[in-house]
Amino acid sequence: MSTTLTPVLTANWDQPNSFTLDVYGEYEAAKKALGMEPDAVIQAVKDSGLRGRGGAGFPTGMKWGFIPQGDGKPHYLVVNADESEPGTCKDIPLMMANPHALVEGVIITSYAIRANHAFIYVRGEVLHVIRRLHAAVREAYEKGYLGSDIFGSGYDLELVVHSGAGAYICGEETALLDSLEGFRGQPRLKPPFPAVAGLYASPTVVNNVESIASVPSIIANGADWFAGMGTEKSKGFGIFSLSGHVTRPGQYEAPLGITLRELLDMAGGIRAGHQIKFWTPGGSSTPIFTDEHLDVPLDFEAVGAKGSMLGTRALQIFDETTCVVRTVLRWTEFYAHESCGKCTPCREGTYWLKQVLKRLEKGQGTEDDLTTITDIADNILGRSFCALGDGATSPIHSSVKYFREEYLKHFEIGGCPFDPKKSTLWGEQ
Ligand SMILES: Cc1cc2nc3c(=O)[nH]c(=O)nc-3n(C[C@H](O)[C@H](O)[C@H](O)COP(=O)(O)O)c2cc1C
Ligand code: SF4
Repeated sequence: MSTTLTPVLTANWDQPNSFTLDVYGEYEAAKKALGMEPDAVIQAVKDSGLRGRGGAGFPTGMKWGFIPQGDGKPHYLVVNADESEPGTCKDIPLMMANPHALVEGVIITSYAIRANHAFIYVRGEVLHVIRRLHAAVREAYEKGYLGSDIFGSGYDLELVVHSGAGAYICGEETALLDSLEGFRGQPRLKPPFPAVAGLYASPTVVNNVESIASVPSIIANGADWFAGMGTEKSKGFGIFSLSGHVTRPGQYEAPLGITLRELLDMAGGIRAGHQIKFWTPGGSSTPIFTDEHLDVPLDFEAVGAKGSMLGTRALQIFDETTCVVRTVLRWTEFYAHESCGKCTPCREGTYWLKQVLKRLEKGQGTEDDLTTITDIADNILGRSFCALGDGATSPIHSSVKYFREEYLKHFEIGGCPFDPKKSTLWGEQ
């Protein structure tokens, strides 16, 4: 655990023109990597202990190692820049402020997995980010860091920035690949995994923006430097995004294993005069925590042991003025809207969850409705085609677990106790 920040990816964010090559520097890490054997680059990333920053925490070097070598097929790197999870807001500022860390990471990764084509699949709504990425890629081509014979090494790489059309499901890696190929974005059956049959049925690595942007610093400073931060199985640093009822919301880059209490100390605490009520460790798809979890080390293992997931470190903080039922309804409306419709448990289940939660929030439900939403969630979890369905059940199960009384209060008073017109009926307010 640590009480200090470790700015690496965020180090230059407050510099004027931080997004230009002039401020970023000359891709020294890529130069170094292209002088190494590709397998040595993979080994360095394995040794660093870097785990995917897109949510699941799969070891990055191991994923690269799955790409078959000498198979005669083209290999591809696809960067997942779709970032659409409610609360998750790290990749977009990273690409705005420091796009060259990503482009340099793309060069190193593509070289390591022997790919000559790479793609950044970016969320379609963020036009400003798309323009910034295009500008960074253009600068890199002009300098000869992309294209033919990079640094005179004989290695060639083409990098394409592709914008999606605004669908959360296109962040799921196989739906993303379908979308990139020009099809409707829906998850593919796995296996085969993308490492064997990914983009255009060829071996493909799909990695999150922050995972790839972390690679240049590992190559520049060494695997031991990275592995020296974090906890035993969750190495290195990560961007923790604090949002909601916090005095200084923002991006805090810190070693994995830091606690929310420590982060809140640096962020000026909960907004003045209020107390924390509940929070998400990693976005809306991760079960909520309460004030009893303030000292849980924010690494993959400790958060998992307490019944949630580290996810994308999207720490959405809610104080005692927030209605948990209303919050869960809003998240559920999102999942119902974004469900791609391919499988029945998620398509039908998210729709019905939304209907029952609407009733509950208005105070028109019954105690049986709590059994109903739990039953529906049980029938989605583990029975859906992809993790979107599972994610939709996280707020349901965890909110009923920690805030059952608040659900009951809604139908006791025939409305939302956080509605100003009803608030006198809610003793604690
Ligand atoms: C519905 C859904 C949305 C997802 N959205 C993203 C996303 O926006 N960005 C991302 O990196 N991973 C997202 N993922 C996870 C990806 O499928 C994949 O695990 C990740 O890109 C792998 O990268 P990493 O190993 O570097 O973490 C999503 C998964 C699901 C099920
Ligand atoms: S779980 Fe939902 S998003 Fe995933 S395939 Fe099924 S319907 Fe589509």
